[in-house]
Amino acid sequence: MKILVLGGDGFCGWPASLHLSASGNEVTIVDNFSRRRIDEELGAGSLTPIRSNAERRAAWAEATGRHIELVELDVAADYERLLDLLVTERPDAIVHFAEQRSAPYSMKSSRHKRYTVNNNVNATDNVLCAIVESGLDIHLVHLGTMGVYGYGTAGMKIPEGYLDVAVNGEAGEMHREILYPTSPGSIYHMTKVLDQDLFAYYAKNDSLRITDLHQGIIWGTSTPETELDERLVNRFDYDGDYGTVLNRFLVQAAVGYPLTVHGTGGQTRAFIHIQDMTRCIELALANPPERGVRVKIFNQMTETHRVRDLAAMVARLTGAVVENVPDPRNEADENELHVTAEAFLDLGLHPTTLSQGLLSEINQTAARYRDRVDLAHIPARSLWTKDRQPGIPAAYRENPSGDGQGRPEHDRDDSHRQSVSGAVSRAAASPGAATMVELRPALIGSTEVETTGHSDPDPVTATDAD
Ligand SMILES: NC(=O)c1ccc[n+]([C@@H]2O[C@H](COP(=O)([O-])OP(=O)(O)OC[C@H]3O[C@@H](n4cnc5c(N)ncnc54)[C@H](O)[C@@H]3O)[C@@H](O)[C@H]2O)c1
Repeated sequence: MKILVLGGDGFCGWPASLHLSASGNEVTIVDNFSRRRIDEELGAGSLTPIRSNAERRAAWAEATGRHIELVELDVAADYERLLDLLVTERPDAIVHFAEQRSAPYSMKSSRHKRYTVNNNVNATDNVLCAIVESGLDIHLVHLGTMGVYGYGTAGMKIPEGYLDVAVNGEAGEMHREILYPTSPGSIYHMTKVLDQDLFAYYAKNDSLRITDLHQGIIWGTSTPETELDERLVNRFDYDGDYGTVLNRFLVQAAVGYPLTVHGTGGQTRAFIHIQDMTRCIELALANPPERGVRVKIFNQMTETHRVRDLAAMVARLTGAVVENVPDPRNEADENELHVTAEAFLDLGLHPTTLSQGLLSEINQTAARYRDRVDLAHIPARSLWTKDRQPGIPAAYRENPSGDGQGRPEHDRDDSHRQSVSGAVSRAAASPGAATMVELRPALIGSTEVETTGHSDPDPVTATDAD
């Protein structure tokens, strides 16, 4: 299959491009590298040392003999070149990852809100318009988010996109199928809601074949393909804007920073491992909808967890301390999330669960690259409304005697330090101790471990970036 991967240089797009290329598809990445520029804007960067896209593609060719092409293009702004690309390349399918994907980034200021709306909605509309204008029968697979459903307690199992409703019509009760009512929690999520309506319109009016994947929060970094060569390493965001919750906890544990649980940590979210994401894309491409039917919607997630339970899990494995910090978001403290996600399982997906994959993620990524962590970028500082507070642990909040570098005041005070051996014995008294004691040297090395003085024996607190 000939496939264009829009946003193929990003966290999901890069491993998906490799996976599709490894399966024998002809892959062309289309990206404007805006994500790399946002790194510069934020002064933040990937935990892993990602290479230039040219170096990545050369390494892939060297490792596998397969070639991935690149077209540098702004999908949201350069409609004519996009159309020209479709007409000349005549792809069978397009996978669309090319959007600004951080909820906190989208809420930083009016400029960030407007950029996110302009970029995401125009990118999606341009792709749809270009498919229609090209006259080609291209299957579009889009990466949406579980967040379109909202994160309140639904009181029901959330279906895969569509809801059967009964309404009182003129001639009595009528049954209808509607898109599940949306409740976006940020401007970023709002753009995914708008995308969803664009898809419904173009499927109805132009009979486009569209699959919209309502994806959960990704965890993990590596796939079998990215592991083939160090130059293929995927990006790993841990900063307060782009880091996804579990990956942030892993980094926080690796550097002895408290696991920052926002609010009560009672937020329940849907998760999927990055390797399963690549497999889901492949399955979606292999099972397109017919022309003239409604948009095919899959819930692309494999498990749900409360944030405080994730923190507790990481704390048990690593001995990290958990701290409840203010929640910068305007969201429910606690929610239930029951989701229908049978479609991919029916198509043959065998999910990687947290209990299987977490240990290797800790060792292979978070611990391995922990020297690259900049503590100042860890806290979530983007506020949903003016009255919210940033999610900074108490000991790291700015104070007159702090060093302003993200280090706590007590950094220079030996009375607040705790040796590794002390931490290990404390850990040994808690559940999961056997695994944790084994892991600590890898995580913390032989140096001392910071403790906050605010440790909570019942770990709770976190954040999510999607
Ligand atoms: N990462 C997650 O946990 C997660 C969860 C749910 C959904 N998603 C969705 O998956 C998609 C990819 O997410 P990601 O984590 O890989 O994000 P990312 O920011 O790492 O990658 C997005 C890529 O798209 C490119 N891009 C953005 N706007 C573009 C434009 N106008 N033209 C061309 N290229 C453009 C960026 O440069 C980047 O390489 C997003 O749409 C996101 O909403 C991600």
